[in-house]
Amino acid sequence: MSSVNTLGTALVTGASSGLGAVYADRLASRGYDLILVARRVERLGVLAKSLAEKYGVAVRAIAADLSVPADVLRVAKELETNPAITMLVNNAGASTLAPVLDTAKDKVDAMDKVNVTALTELTHAVLPQFKQRNHGTIINIGSVLSFHVLPISTVYSGTKGYVMNFTRGLQQELAGTGIVVQLVLPASTATEIWDLSGVPLAQLDHATVMSAEDCVDAALAGLDQGELVTLPSVQDQALWEQFDSARLALFAGARSGKPASRYNVKSST
Ligand SMILES: NC(=O)c1ccc[n+]([C@@H]2O[C@H](COP(=O)([O-])OP(=O)(O)OC[C@H]3O[C@@H](n4cnc5c(N)ncnc54)[C@H](OP(=O)(O)O)[C@@H]3O)[C@@H](O)[C@H]2O)c1
Repeated sequence: MSSVNTLGTALVTGASSGLGAVYADRLASRGYDLILVARRVERLGVLAKSLAEKYGVAVRAIAADLSVPADVLRVAKELETNPAITMLVNNAGASTLAPVLDTAKDKVDAMDKVNVTALTELTHAVLPQFKQRNHGTIINIGSVLSFHVLPISTVYSGTKGYVMNFTRGLQQELAGTGIVVQLVLPASTATEIWDLSGVPLAQLDHATVMSAEDCVDAALAGLDQGELVTLPSVQDQALWEQFDSARLALFAGARSGKPASRYNVKSST
């Protein structure tokens, strides 16, 4: 199948549950062959079999712990050397929601390594072949906690803030090329990540929680519409535009070369 598949292969990290499993389903339904990555390989195997049967695409699983450098390297090699890959969905994510000092070091490490290091290294690995072909799609999953922080999300928001800036920078680097880079910023979505994070899903206000299916369907609709930044649950698109304009104005305002007058510093220039 993959040799005649003109859409190519999408590699989806964190495909064993939640948003990643829905991305796998939706991309297979569009006709992509798939490579599914996560630690729970038995779950990936079940999903791979059912998607291959349902949609007639080729689906392969790679068991990898993206907090382990050797495993990231293995997935990176696949991205570097498999010419069928046309899409990377950097979806795998780790979340522990607690104040910094109440977060065990291994949980901090997992957030840094999965949310930041793996996402960066996998993007770095796939880019050369995308650039060579001037074609390819990268979808990076950030969060509304990319631009907001709570007392229990200090580390998680830090990592997701990185995802936002990394992705926005990449979009500028690749502007005008045939490579599409989409930043997806979901709000609360009903997945396993909540119970794993220490904040049970059942404690959230249900009215504020989206289903994983709706989140991915909206994100893919945003991709189809050419959006660079997709906020699946934000009804008023102008809110993002105002946020982005304020950021640009603040940056421009910071380039004065002089201490602000409120600091009463006698400028040396
Ligand atoms: N749910 C929300 O409210 C929400 C909101 C904003 C953003 N997000 C983001 O959405 C993305 C998907 O999360 P989700 O909500 O769908 O949660 P989920 O159901 O818990 O899925 C997370 C996925 O990441 C994988 N993963 C976690 N640690 C990994 C590791 N060390 N190595 C390899 N894979 C790992 C998990 O697979 P294994 O455990 O099998 O390895 C799982 O497939 C994450 O980036 C998350 O930060 C979620």
